[in-house]
Amino acid sequence: MKNFLLVCNFKMNVVETKSYVDAMKNEEYANVILCPNFCDLKEFVKLKKSNKILLGAQNVSEFESGAHTGEISVAMLKNIGAQFCIVGHSERKQFNFETLSQTNQKVKLLIESNISPIICVGEELYSVEEKQAEFAVRFVLSELNEILKDVDVSKVIVAYEPVWAIGTGKVASNEHIETVLSAIKKYTGVEFTLYGGSFGENNFEDIAKIDCVDGALIGGASLKPELICKMQKRIKEIL
Ligand code: PGA
Repeated sequence: MKNFLLVCNFKMNVVETKSYVDAMKNEEYANVILCPNFCDLKEFVKLKKSNKILLGAQNVSEFESGAHTGEISVAMLKNIGAQFCIVGHSERKQFNFETLSQTNQKVKLLIESNISPIICVGEELYSVEEKQAEFAVRFVLSELNEILKDVDVSKVIVAYEPVWAIGTGKVASNEHIETVLSAIKKYTGVEFTLYGGSFGENNFEDIAKIDCVDGALIGGASLKPELICKMQKRIKEIL
């Protein structure tokens, strides 16, 4: 039986802690990682204690400390109790111009502080549809080549998120997901890989059953605590 991780990325949305408290009741959700906005991280520590959830951040500075207005350091995340941190999300690349070498710096700092980086990679749509998976493999391996420079790969999680599937309702086929995730495992040595991109009610069972998928990075559906709890329970039953 695999321990399928559900990583919930609330993005820049406010999700009331109470809605998760109510949905989770007294049960344990030790394979659910909640990643609220920075301001709400402290609030979610309650659920970490009562429901054994894991706690993650959505980003971190590539600098250790000092004159970096508006940034949050790895030490600050550590202090608050974050065990995971998403890095290199496609939205940060698109809107904040985050580079692969910045992501690499973040990954190294996180590992030094024993916070597990969840590294996002993924391609845009390719013009020749039937070659999309080949293109994706080449693209994500070249991203990882830079992001994993001088990094202990046993300490990271890689989330494959095709950019065209994020928030669009379009999901990569099972075959596509399998091709890309197995190539990531084979060529980088990373052991733990997630799929992300419109993961939700209609596709979670099929995706969870794919051998090389160890979990999901979830955006939109993570704003619905009841749905996260329902998916977590069902996945436990079927795997
Ligand atoms: P989505 O977002 O589930 O809404 O597609 C995924 C993500 O951005 O991580």
